[in-house]
Amino acid sequence: MTKYRVGILGATGMVGQRFIQLLEHHPQFEITAVAASDRSQGKTYGNACTWRLNGEMPKRVRSLPVQPPTPPLDCDLVFSSLPGDIARQTEGDFANAGYPVISNSSAFRMDEDVPLLIPEVNHQHLDLLTRQRQRYTAGGFIVTNPNCSTIMLALALAPLHATFGITSVVATTMQALSGAGYPGVASLDIIDNVLPHIGGEEEKIETETTKILGRFVNNQIEPAAMSVSAQCHRVNVADGHMAAVRVNFTRKPDLNELREALSSFRSLPQELGLHSAPDQPIVVRDEVDRPQPKLDRDAGAGMTITVGRLREDTVMDYRFVVLSHNTIRGAAGAAILNAELLIALQYFKTG
Ligand SMILES: NC(=O)c1ccc[n+]([C@@H]2O[C@H](COP(=O)([O-])OP(=O)(O)OC[C@H]3O[C@@H](n4cnc5c(N)ncnc54)[C@H](OP(=O)(O)O)[C@@H]3O)[C@@H](O)[C@H]2O)c1
Repeated sequence: MTKYRVGILGATGMVGQRFIQLLEHHPQFEITAVAASDRSQGKTYGNACTWRLNGEMPKRVRSLPVQPPTPPLDCDLVFSSLPGDIARQTEGDFANAGYPVISNSSAFRMDEDVPLLIPEVNHQHLDLLTRQRQRYTAGGFIVTNPNCSTIMLALALAPLHATFGITSVVATTMQALSGAGYPGVASLDIIDNVLPHIGGEEEKIETETTKILGRFVNNQIEPAAMSVSAQCHRVNVADGHMAAVRVNFTRKPDLNELREALSSFRSLPQELGLHSAPDQPIVVRDEVDRPQPKLDRDAGAGMTITVGRLREDTVMDYRFVVLSHNTIRGAAGAAILNAELLIALQYFKTG
């Protein structure tokens, strides 16, 4: 099979490196272009990038020149992991120039005609792409993945909302350091400490969750009618975001029904056998001390989220803890799964 040629915008960053790692042996994609800031442009990727993931930097990318993130690039689609403030202009330029843009950044997530996609949860929202044909007449489009904490929350809530109806959610996150990119938070600020503020994060979780769980009606997304309250904290963990969650339901299920709805959840990516789709999107653990970032972030090669501490609550109906790998299911892996779904549903013309 001919592989799709991909460009990575922000290729030298935390998420960009994860893209490079996850795409190394991918059966459908090959990396043909990398782009980053003017600090890196003009160098080879091997010289520009200090590799910060386990294992070696893949050989194939080392000699690629780092280019500016402007079209044209020698590729069929781009994955973007650019900072939010420059992503709006840059991703728009690529879509205008006819490229499919599969983005991690927050710039377009809440636009009315942009799918905020979790393939297991809201693949119907891809119908929004017909609306983007008016915006991007050269055939380009933008699909985004949610914020790294929103993804695990919305994925855990999806089967519960579909089965029992959710009326309100309270989520308190404990977010890993890699979520702030590199170099991220200064070591003296986080050693022996917890930071109770991550800029923009609470608002993202509160707005993105209802869009993702919303219904596609009359060519637009009708947000889910639930209230979502989030408090976010940066903690001294390298990888793996965690959230303590409390939920109220329209119809309160019993504990077994709740557990079964989570652990039996499968969806289109599993039916289609997409390369990055985990066999089980949600694992429920019954041990009293799970999930833990160190032990559970790599479940399903980083694409499975883990739910534990599932209990009746004393104030709301139920509570649980959810955990996922923030740069895999929460970022690069999520975007790659989005692209695999777009291929399976024939949204890309070339390859
Ligand atoms: N980290 C996570 O867990 C996570 C999860 C979900 C979403 N995201 C989102 O993904 C994006 C990237 O995050 P990250 O953690 O990978 O950040 P990062 O480690 O700071 O990397 C940023 C990347 O963007 C490039 N860049 C910075 N300024 C630029 C400019 N003016 N022009 C062109 N390129 C520029 C950097 O290139 P140089 O190396 O040349 O500076 C680097 O490749 C952000 O929008 C973030 O919100 C991150």
